[in-house]
Amino acid sequence: MTRGAVALLATLNLLACGAAVEPSKGSTGSDGSPPAAARAGAGAPGIGDPHFPLDGNGGYDVAHYALEIGYVPASKHLDGEATIRATATQPLSRFNLDLHGFKVSEVTVDGAAARFSRDGDELSVTPAKPLAQGAEFAVRVAYSGEPQPVRGSSNLGTYGFIPTKDGAFVTAEPNGARTWFPANDHPADKATFDFKITVPRGVTALANGELLSRKPAAGGGTTFTWRESNPMVTYLATATLGKFRLREGKTAGGIPNLAATDPRYAGALDKLYERSGEITDHWVKVFGPYPFGSTGGVIDDFSAGYALENQTKPMYGGFEPDESIIAHELAHQWFGNSVSIKRWKDLWLNEGFATYAEWLWAEHRGDSTAEQRFRTALNRAADDAIWSYPPGDTRPDDLFHESVYLRGAMTLHALRQEIGDDTFFKLLRTWAAEHEHGNATTDQFTALAERLSGKQLGSLFDAWLFQPRRPAV
Ligand code: TRP
Ligand code: ZN
Repeated sequence: MTRGAVALLATLNLLACGAAVEPSKGSTGSDGSPPAAARAGAGAPGIGDPHFPLDGNGGYDVAHYALEIGYVPASKHLDGEATIRATATQPLSRFNLDLHGFKVSEVTVDGAAARFSRDGDELSVTPAKPLAQGAEFAVRVAYSGEPQPVRGSSNLGTYGFIPTKDGAFVTAEPNGARTWFPANDHPADKATFDFKITVPRGVTALANGELLSRKPAAGGGTTFTWRESNPMVTYLATATLGKFRLREGKTAGGIPNLAATDPRYAGALDKLYERSGEITDHWVKVFGPYPFGSTGGVIDDFSAGYALENQTKPMYGGFEPDESIIAHELAHQWFGNSVSIKRWKDLWLNEGFATYAEWLWAEHRGDSTAEQRFRTALNRAADDAIWSYPPGDTRPDDLFHESVYLRGAMTLHALRQEIGDDTFFKLLRTWAAEHEHGNATTDQFTALAERLSGKQLGSLFDAWLFQPRRPAV
């Protein structure tokens, strides 16, 4: 999706990397200047996130991923064909995609064979003809092999496309989309998705958005076609495969709702369906219109012990979620999925908000107030790790630190106390509306809070988000 800032970042990154501009091929344009092709350089290998320098790529902006995936659980073999529509944001002699593992058999750009090479997770593509700035192009990548999920590069264990006994558990935050498709794998480049997934008979494929069709496949098996027609960051894409019980319908408020559970959690299907619907409808009242075409949730039997807010289909790994965690993952549909971060240091905009939503849900249920939860956290010992880790500046080696969640939520509560309930809830709704389906930064949030409240909030945000010590309250 085109965002000026992303293009600018990419350009700055290109300059910073000192990427060489390839020499002119001799011919000149009719006005004497070199044609775009001759001036074209290489797209940067990263999108410009200082904490994750090789994540995403520079020089283009993806609009759409069309993914055709065949997967056989017994052999763990994946056959993929990805067609990516994008716009060049600079003249490009070559550009990169992120891809982890697999054998790439063929790459084309606008139908013409392209040269390609691999270096770590960078797949570098040289089109037959350079791309002019502003050119829309389609790159098609054919690849296959056994998916290799990422281990240990964050504090969350394994993530990405994780093979399971009956299929796959796919949760890819922060940069595991590349473990199952070639991607501009960074949240700053959102795109729409089509999924065509072929699996053996009896296996169900659950991807984002809505199911368009389910048909017998030519060579046996079943092909599921899903479409996510709203922009989505790459880490939220899923193709979760396995034996599932499904319950489909609408929430009381009229939002299509789909719950799915592994047979081992069959007894939790109705509760998952009902709570997900009820909580989605409640968040509509608090945060504003639901940003996507459907809601729901999936419980798989892979014992991840964690959940991920996959767009339209939060995933619960090996446990029956309670209301609090459902409230958390569904709040992410507004905060994280619709309003997405532009760089990983702002992760509290996702996790602080979703954690605060847990407090709001408890308050709504009459269990405990947000004030009580805030006080309890504030009473943590002076040497507690949340006080030395400022949540507004995440560390790449400890991205999902508890501080990002808990002190992030406390930041919102301190803000609510300062500006009052009316302005605070108006702020949450305005934030969700102004950046719907986009990307935003902490600076934009603090500016909006100051605008709506008419107050100077610099020292509040500085103490809560950026200082390595417990704020004075
Ligand atoms: N965003 C998830 C949550 O807050 C946590 C998470 C981060 C995660 N990376 C993940 C979950 C990878 C699964 C896989 O609930
Ligand atoms: Zn979360």
